[in-house]
Amino acid sequence: MATRVGAAPGDDLTVASRRLNAAYQQTLRYAEDVRRLYQQVQRAIYQSLLGLANALEAKDAYTRGHSERVGAWSRGVAAALGLPTGDVDMIGQAGLLHDIGKIGIPEAVLRKPGALVPEEWAVMRNHPLIGAQIVAPFDFFAGGALMIRHHHERWDGSGYPDGLTGDEIPLGARIIAVTDVYDALTSNRPYRVALSHATAIEHLTSEAGRTLDEDAVAVFVTLMQTLSTAKPDVGARSALRPSS
Ligand SMILES: [Fe+2]
Repeated sequence: MATRVGAAPGDDLTVASRRLNAAYQQTLRYAEDVRRLYQQVQRAIYQSLLGLANALEAKDAYTRGHSERVGAWSRGVAAALGLPTGDVDMIGQAGLLHDIGKIGIPEAVLRKPGALVPEEWAVMRNHPLIGAQIVAPFDFFAGGALMIRHHHERWDGSGYPDGLTGDEIPLGARIIAVTDVYDALTSNRPYRVALSHATAIEHLTSEAGRTLDEDAVAVFVTLMQTLSTAKPDVGARSALRPSS
């Protein structure tokens, strides 16, 4: 850099250093703005997906409240496992949206009052794939899309859509599977009345290491004990889900 006439070289260096520092600070501010905007866009997209999930709840009475509980419990299990905050958030969001693909299932199947026949089950089993496709355009939610795709996989490989086994199944999907099964068991279905909390926990424990992830089951059981200790009426289904 050219030295001004009459100015000591050190002065120029000081000025240049200040300018450089000011430019650096400005860049940091821009970066912070970009980060904030990106988060706003993510939130807006997520809100839109929630709108879609609400539309599903209007279509399928069973899903009402189910998605929120699965989301909240999955988040709780992920946090109790000590996962990083970003992973905990994504698992909670994927739990909330796990059945979003049911929006693409015909109402005749979705709302059928009786048990489904094999052909209808084949249609119903497409919902994890449809759900993953719905959220696929959002790069920031790629991990969540995988959890949605695999939430019906089973530890022993007997699940769908890909028959993955054990650790091949994304951890978030294994967690969602546990909370999803518990909520399904403790819900009234057209073909079965709701099981008690204790019976559902017994079932989860017997499936741990067989169809369900052993660690996720253990953490979930402890979480439910903690919740029922903090609020004694939580163990009762009616307290978890006000009669609908
Ligand atoms: Fe599902």
